[in-house]
Amino acid sequence: MTTFYMEGNFAPVRDETTAYDLPIEGTIPTGLSGRYLRNGPNPTTGDPGHWFFGEGMLHGVELRDGRATWYRNRYVRTASFNEGRRVVGENGMLDIEADVANTHVIAHGGRILALVENRTPTEVTRELDTVGPFDFGGRLTTAMTAHPKRCPVTGELHFFGYGIFPPLLTYHRADAAGNLVQSEEITVPGPTMIHDFAITEHSVIFMDLPVVCDPSLLMARTMPYRWSEDYGARLGIMPRGNSTNADVRWFDIEPCYVFHPLNASERRPGHIEIDVARYPHLWRDGQNAFEPTTLHRWTVDVAAGTVKEETIDDRSVEFPRVDERLVGRPARFGYAVHTRPGPDGFAMETNLVKYDLVSGTTEEHDFGPGRVPGEGVFVPASDGAAEDDGYVLAYVYDAGRDGSDLVILDASDFSASPVGTVALPQRVPFGFHGSWVDDARGLHLPPPRPA
Ligand SMILES: [Fe+2]
Repeated sequence: MTTFYMEGNFAPVRDETTAYDLPIEGTIPTGLSGRYLRNGPNPTTGDPGHWFFGEGMLHGVELRDGRATWYRNRYVRTASFNEGRRVVGENGMLDIEADVANTHVIAHGGRILALVENRTPTEVTRELDTVGPFDFGGRLTTAMTAHPKRCPVTGELHFFGYGIFPPLLTYHRADAAGNLVQSEEITVPGPTMIHDFAITEHSVIFMDLPVVCDPSLLMARTMPYRWSEDYGARLGIMPRGNSTNADVRWFDIEPCYVFHPLNASERRPGHIEIDVARYPHLWRDGQNAFEPTTLHRWTVDVAAGTVKEETIDDRSVEFPRVDERLVGRPARFGYAVHTRPGPDGFAMETNLVKYDLVSGTTEEHDFGPGRVPGEGVFVPASDGAAEDDGYVLAYVYDAGRDGSDLVILDASDFSASPVGTVALPQRVPFGFHGSWVDDARGLHLPPPRPA
C-alpha cells in the first residue's frame, strides 16, 4: 500500500523546537508584523493509516520590525492526544472521535483555533501552546469544519459541522465577537464528506458531493468514505441571515469532488460564481488515490435554476486562497499550489500559481529545483492596500538540504525573486492550511493573557 504520507517531506518531525532571530536572505517588509501559522498532520508514532489521520502540529514564524523573531512548532494537545488515542486504535478499528486537530488554524473573536472537521476547535495561544477545547461556551454541539468563512464586511464567521450520524449537516454562524448566534440543521440525503463550503454577499453555499460514508470501512484502517456512482452531486444555496433549512435551494451538478473552493461571489446580480479545485472523482479506486484537479467554475443562475460548468484552467491545483478581505466578494486575484504528479502518482513537484480572474491570465512562481512550496497565504501590505498590494507567504521545502524556509513573495511581481526568505531551524513537513495572524488588523488577535 502506498504510504506517501510517511515518506520524504511528508514524514513527521519529532522535536518541538523554539528558535529566535532567524537568518534572513533579502528583507522582511516592516509592514509585516504578526505571525504565519500553519497546521498539518504529524503522526506521533508509526503509520496512522491515512494522510489525514496524523496528529496536528502547528508551525509558526513571527515577523516584526524587519526581523523573523521566532519559529515554533507544537503539537495540538487535544484531550485524545494527551490520552494517546489515535484515529486508528491498537485494535485496528477507527476511533471516529479521536481529535487530531490537524487541518487549519484561524483566529476569530479573540481566540486562535486549531481545527479538524470531525471535532470542535482547540484553542491555542499565540505561542502555539494548547489552551484546550473551545465549543463557543457550550453552544456548539456538532463538529466544526476546518474551513469557516469570515465575512469581511460583517465580521461574522460562517461555518458548518457534518457527521456520519444525524444531524448529518448543521449550519452555524458566530458574530464578530465569537458568540455562536445561529445553528440550523440542513437536510441532505446521506452522510457525505463535506470538507469546505463558500459564502457570498447574500448566500451560503453547501456542497453535497458523492464521497459517502461506507460503514464497512469503519472496520478498516482507512478513511471511512468512498466514491459513489449513484449518490449524485448538488449545491445547496441558503440566503444569509436567519434562514432555515426550508430556505435552502438545491441545484444538481455533474458528479465530482471538491475539497476547496477558491472563492464565490455575485459578480453579476442573481448569478453566483463558485470557483473550485475540482476532482473528477475521489477515492473511487482507494482512499489514498488523489487524482489531478482543475480550477472549475460553477455559475448558478438562481432564478432559472440552472448551473453552468466550465474549466477555467487545465493545470492541476490545490490549496486555493484569496485575499481574506475579499472572501465572498468579487476578487480579481487568487493563489494556488500547482501540482505535477510524482512517480507514485501523487503530486510532488509544485509551483505557486497566481490567477488573474478578470483578465484570465496566470503567473507562476518557480522556487527552483527541489524546492517545493505548500499553500500560499496572501497578506496585504497595509490597511486599505489594493488587492494586489501585498505578499504571499508559504513554507518551502528544500530537498537539497532537507530543510524548509518561510518565503515571502511580492504578490504584484509574483514570478520575481522572493522579497525575503527565512531559513527555519528544521524542515516543515507538507501540511494543510494556515493563516496570517496580524498584530494590528489581523484575524482578531487575542489580547495578551495575564501570566
Ligand atoms: Fe482543507
